[in-house]
Amino acid sequence: MRIPGPFVTFEGGEGSGKSTQLRLLAARLSADGHTVVTTREPGGTPGAEAVRRLLLEGDGDRWSALAELYLFLAARTDHVERLVAPARARGAFVLCDRFHDSTRVYQGLAGGLGLALVDRLQAPVLARARPDLTVLLDLAPEVGLARRARAGGGGRFERRDPDFHRRVREGFLELARREPERIRVFDATLPEAVLADEIYRTVRDRFGREP
Ligand code: TYD
Repeated sequence: MRIPGPFVTFEGGEGSGKSTQLRLLAARLSADGHTVVTTREPGGTPGAEAVRRLLLEGDGDRWSALAELYLFLAARTDHVERLVAPARARGAFVLCDRFHDSTRVYQGLAGGLGLALVDRLQAPVLARARPDLTVLLDLAPEVGLARRARAGGGGRFERRDPDFHRRVREGFLELARREPERIRVFDATLPEAVLADEIYRTVRDRFGREP
């Protein structure tokens, strides 16, 4: 049986540059000869993208915290079953913009549902796809939100109060302290190319096998 392809997730607050860094890493891994699949959450499959619209559009209080958690998990389940797990089974490198740590932080630690409940409810989907490595792009929320405002952002989550975004940053750092081997913290204020080099080196050191 083929060894499952590596699963790398990118996490961080708003405007931390995850999507750019994910694209840069994908290009370098492809140039090395790997088959790379890039995707994002919430979303990544037609069903999950439909749920994404329910989650990101509308008023801040459109959903209760628990209803929102189940929507994120419904989107993740479809995404894992139809895209992430099959791609890994083919041996592809899967790079995902946000995954389960976002739920642990946004809904669990910063959103008030607590980590234990979130971890319990998402255990079945994680049993099907668990990240091997997580790139955490750490950035002060004021800096990230200012970057995002310049780019014309402003979805349901970005409109939350500054204290929420501070809890998000702290939450991610807390998860990294608990799992330092899996979650690697990078300084998102570094110049784009320097950061890209650091991330590439980390990934290459971790999965240093031939394509
Ligand atoms: P998106 O526009 O993709 O933001 P970003 O570019 O910052 O990734 O919107 C995703 C939003 O959804 C983001 O604010 C974080 C939030 N989110 C959660 O609250 N829980 C989750 O499980 C995930 C995947 C995202």
